[in-house]
Amino acid sequence: MTSDSAQHVSLKPVPSVEMVTNGLSVGDLNDLCDATEEAINAGGGFGWIHLPNRNLLERFWQGVLIMPARMLFVARLDGVICGAAQLCLPPRNNEAQSFNIQLSGLFISPWARGQGLSRRLLDYAEKTAMKKGFAVMNLDLRESQDAAIQLYESAGYELVGKNPHYAAVDGKFVAGRYYSKLLQPLENIKTDNADPDAE
Ligand SMILES: CC(C)(COP(=O)(O)OP(=O)(O)OC[C@H]1O[C@@H](n2cnc3c(N)ncnc32)[C@H](O)[C@@H]1OP(=O)(O)O)[C@@H](O)C(=O)NCCC(=O)NCCS
Repeated sequence: MTSDSAQHVSLKPVPSVEMVTNGLSVGDLNDLCDATEEAINAGGGFGWIHLPNRNLLERFWQGVLIMPARMLFVARLDGVICGAAQLCLPPRNNEAQSFNIQLSGLFISPWARGQGLSRRLLDYAEKTAMKKGFAVMNLDLRESQDAAIQLYESAGYELVGKNPHYAAVDGKFVAGRYYSKLLQPLENIKTDNADPDAE
């Protein structure tokens, strides 16, 4: 390799995050399933405990994509999907809590960890929630997820509750934590914000 061509080679991986608005290509769905499997094998922490078969995993993600009350965000490293997060909108009948939105299933595959991607995903999901007119982001997770707890607490999430019977892993209860963050004051938002298509 000449010194000229070496100048054009970037060794730093390029991180990016995005909301999935137009479905996923076959390659992207495959990468998302790979990332999910790798993260489950590394200890899960975002719901799954045992590795589901690949068909089920593909159908799960395809289901997320078609649910109007879900928004899917993915993280990429050098263009390859390596993690995801979802926002779950409140049910339309829950008018009193229509300012709330729930973050769930945030994970990054082990090979892409430590590059700031989960912080980017979280930030992007929060900004999207604010643009859609939500005032509060809620989330919950197992008490054993130390890295995620660090992430959320450092991003301003306040511990609002604990549940000793939050999850069951290998026949034993695992405690869980509930976090909440005020994204913007109520007076900033419209009241009809439970519309996933709202700008
Ligand atoms: C938690 C998780 C998403 C972090 O992903 P990541 O891309 O490696 O995290 P980032 O590089 O963006 O780091 C963001 C912050 O997370 C925290 N963090 C990340 N890895 C950590 C670790 N090993 N130990 C402690 N804190 C850690 C830190 O606060 C870090 O901020 P800093 O770099 O300024 O110290 C990842 O470890 C994961 O997928 N874990 C399993 C799934 C899970 O627990 N999901 C949450 C429940 S829904």
